[in-house]
Amino acid sequence: MLDLGSQWHFERPKLVAGLAQRLEQHQRIAMFGPRQTGKTTLLRSELIPELERRGLLPVYVECWADRKDPIASINHALTKALEGILLSPGKRGARAAKTPVKKVSIAGFAVDLGDLGVRTLPDSPTLRFDALLTMLLEASSQNVALLFDEFQAIAEVDTADNMSAGLRAALTQASDRVGAVFSGSNEAALLRMFSSSRAPLFQFAVAEPYHLLREDFVGHVAAKFAAATQRDLNQVMAMNLLERCGHQPAPFLQVIGAMLSDPRLNHEDALKSMLSPKARTLWAAAWADLTHTQQLTLRLVAAGEPPTSSASREWIASQMATVSGSMPAQAIASSTVDRALKSLQAKGLIAKSQGWEVVDPMMLLWLDQNGLTHRL
Ligand SMILES: Nc1ncnc2c1ncn2[C@@H]1O[C@H](COP(=O)(O)OP(=O)(O)O)[C@@H](O)[C@H]1O
Ligand SMILES: [Mg+2]
Repeated sequence: MLDLGSQWHFERPKLVAGLAQRLEQHQRIAMFGPRQTGKTTLLRSELIPELERRGLLPVYVECWADRKDPIASINHALTKALEGILLSPGKRGARAAKTPVKKVSIAGFAVDLGDLGVRTLPDSPTLRFDALLTMLLEASSQNVALLFDEFQAIAEVDTADNMSAGLRAALTQASDRVGAVFSGSNEAALLRMFSSSRAPLFQFAVAEPYHLLREDFVGHVAAKFAAATQRDLNQVMAMNLLERCGHQPAPFLQVIGAMLSDPRLNHEDALKSMLSPKARTLWAAAWADLTHTQQLTLRLVAAGEPPTSSASREWIASQMATVSGSMPAQAIASSTVDRALKSLQAKGLIAKSQGWEVVDPMMLLWLDQNGLTHRL
């Protein structure tokens, strides 16, 4: 399949320059936006090179690398950055060591910094973060930009408040040399962390929405499309499609890619075939992975029905009976629906804001196209 996501990558130099400039001034930015809309790509393939051009040391931190232990993921990224500097003293910004560092034994509890001496690392994960950051700043003359991706991972562990307080303390101490982006896809969790007056990270960063790809991205795609096919892409239709895809470039480009290779295909048909239950997609796989009760519960949530209402529970019971051929129970127990909701939430398929909602607009579109939302 054509990978248009990378071939047709749409650059946003103005947005990136704005972010880089603020990081140069050691600002802290909390940037939240839905999944699959291009945040990681923006950080990795545009912001990092721009920061390097400006002489900063960017450190990309995948907070979700270890979902159960995000602070370990953070410390791992700092360790890698430190190793990068210590093991290549010729590198820009690395402070010249008279005796070159041969090996960095960070796996244990000590770090050999060459001329700077040997340091032991504290046991506490947040103090360890503080120690690693201090070492990084000693080892490099460059200012640092920490790019925390999927930062809401911190909010999801039991020790979130301790972690946040520890990170805040360490970053505050280093604030004359360190800027940070806290990026994440769970808006509710991130807003709780940065905008709730009881949270340790309250007002620690300027919270702002991530800029979704919009008309200018569609214009860029239309130009590429025209260059490749000598055909015009209707930009109003394309913008509408991008919106239906929840501003996710990958499924949008997949539909455009299908139209690119088959001139007779219109976007409705291309979309339909992409969302076919037979097509091997993440959405079909997610659906197939659910128990029958979970599927029925998801269908109700997708239609905006309150899943634990008695009408909902009666419908679930009648559907279960149809499949098993047994006499329908009056209604299924609320606790059964609650369990299904918890499982769907744990799989990242639904989340609760006012009521339960399907998280991914593409999943919702998939359910809708396949007649799998159920209005009572
Ligand atoms: N600027 C862009 N232009 C074209 N495609 C993009 C762009 N940004 C992201 N994509 C596509 O969208 C996919 C999802 O992007 P990603 O950065 O992983 O989103 P997020 O981090 O918000 O979940 C990428 O794999 C890529 O194919
Ligand atoms: Mg991402």
